[in-house]
Amino acid sequence: MYFLGVDLGSLSCDAVLLDHNGTVLAASVVPTGARNREAIERVIREVLDAVRISHADIRATVSTGYGRERVEKRLASVTEITCHARGMEALLPGTHVLIDIGGQDSKAIRLDGAGRVLEFAMNDKCAAGTGRFLEAMARALQVEIGDLSELDRGASGSLTLSSMCTVFAESEIVSLIADGVEVNEIASGLNRAIACRIASLVKRVAPDLNGLKVAMSGGVAHNGGVVRAIESALNTEIFVPPKPDTVGALGAAILAKERSGL
Ligand SMILES: Nc1ncnc2c1ncn2[C@@H]1O[C@H](COP(=O)(O)OP(=O)(O)OP(=O)(O)O)[C@@H](O)[C@H]1O
Ligand SMILES: [Mg+2]
Repeated sequence: MYFLGVDLGSLSCDAVLLDHNGTVLAASVVPTGARNREAIERVIREVLDAVRISHADIRATVSTGYGRERVEKRLASVTEITCHARGMEALLPGTHVLIDIGGQDSKAIRLDGAGRVLEFAMNDKCAAGTGRFLEAMARALQVEIGDLSELDRGASGSLTLSSMCTVFAESEIVSLIADGVEVNEIASGLNRAIACRIASLVKRVAPDLNGLKVAMSGGVAHNGGVVRAIESALNTEIFVPPKPDTVGALGAAILAKERSGL
């Protein structure tokens, strides 16, 4: 008996497959692209193929993410906030604060230490600090998104970017490169600017982090430079699971099992 969680996000479509014990059997991430249904089909096919089962073997599916209503044959669709909270609770039991930075928004979620959401703060008004913003900055820096992680290494940390608006930040980076400013200093300035915004979101839900377990989910958690800058802005350690972009899908799969009464 198998349980499926599907998270259709703005940039990535993720799936997690659990067995009847709640053990993760497979997790997959594919780009959302322009055709949502194709991404959903593909990501489900990947997790089914990984364990050589067919769709008929799935007892229940729960969907989440902005496109959650597009997932067919679902038992339920649940908000991303609830799913990320449940997913992280399974990975880091007792999580108090969860930071989720995805493609188009960032959230700070306060949990009760047992996977339930107490409150959250969200920035979905502005692209600054989101995954999409970082992709634009990687293009301006002429590096791959995966290379941003280590790009700030060795920087003095003295550069402050004057704008976080995507278009202005992009042209500021282009002129800094033209002026001969080291790429690591630019990356460090970028990471610190993002961290400053995230730190103020976190402070809204948890003014004092003393003794609290803090974790991060969403694709931007792959970016070690951003994670380190947030750790330093909050003066706390942040737990990042191995596949941070699949935390929402994991929570959805856990809810699929739970809501089946199993
Ligand atoms: N290997 C990597 N290194 C650095 N950053 C990465 C890596 N993989 C993904 N990302 C970042 O993660 C972002 C996508 O995050 P995620 O998959 O959580 O988005 P999403 O869930 O589709 O978005 P949303 O929840 O806002 O709808 C990318 O834009 C990119 O910035
Ligand atoms: Mg997401």
